[in-house]
Amino acid sequence: MKKKINIAIDGPAAAGKSTIAKRIAERMDYIYIDTGAMYRAVTLHLIRHDRQILNQLEDLDIRFGAGGTTLYLNGEDVTEDIRTQEVTSNVSEVSSLSGVRRYLVSMQQKIAEDKGVVMDGRDIGTTVLPDAELKIFMKASPEIRAKRRLKEEEARGVDIDLETLTDQIVRRDELDMNREISPLVKADEAVLLDTSHMGIAEVEDTIIKMALDLLEGN
Ligand code: DC
Repeated sequence: MKKKINIAIDGPAAAGKSTIAKRIAERMDYIYIDTGAMYRAVTLHLIRHDRQILNQLEDLDIRFGAGGTTLYLNGEDVTEDIRTQEVTSNVSEVSSLSGVRRYLVSMQQKIAEDKGVVMDGRDIGTTVLPDAELKIFMKASPEIRAKRRLKEEEARGVDIDLETLTDQIVRRDELDMNREISPLVKADEAVLLDTSHMGIAEVEDTIIKMALDLLEGN
């Protein structure tokens, strides 16, 4: 059987992790898992219902569609609903809850058991897949990340300005880096990629080359 590896991609909000992870998974014919989307799905459920569900997380059915971009929550396509401002401003708080993390981390570990997964998030290299063969930590300045996010939001027809987005990103970084459980931190062995002045294709090719070198035993 063809040898497969797991690739962990971590980094702060809007660093381009999902775009890159998805393209790498496509090129390598691997499974792409956006763990941020899973935390967003739990957040959406909590907003819609109440905190009681925290005791019944196992009843939550979170599933990705083919290709990993569509997300189903209890059978409903919530791909768009998990990207609203309301979810974005609550997701860091929800993802700091130990029960939520335990539940999602174990689900993520199961998905990656057979290798061949590109997983992006905040704690993949440190906690979810500490044995991942390739670990990347992507960073970019908050201003650049906010500009990239602004383009995405505009394309989705969302009316928001650069200053609000920058503030939101800085606040989310702070919460994600300072939470008690599995904070956002670079794993020692992760390769640091500052993408501030790199295009998508360049980042993608850099990671693919590292993955192929590993697979070919170079
Ligand atoms: O990648 P994203 O912006 O969609 O992630 C949303 C939030 O989910 C992020 O602010 C922190 C949390 N998260 C996390 O705590 N651990 C992960 N592995 C992925 C995301």
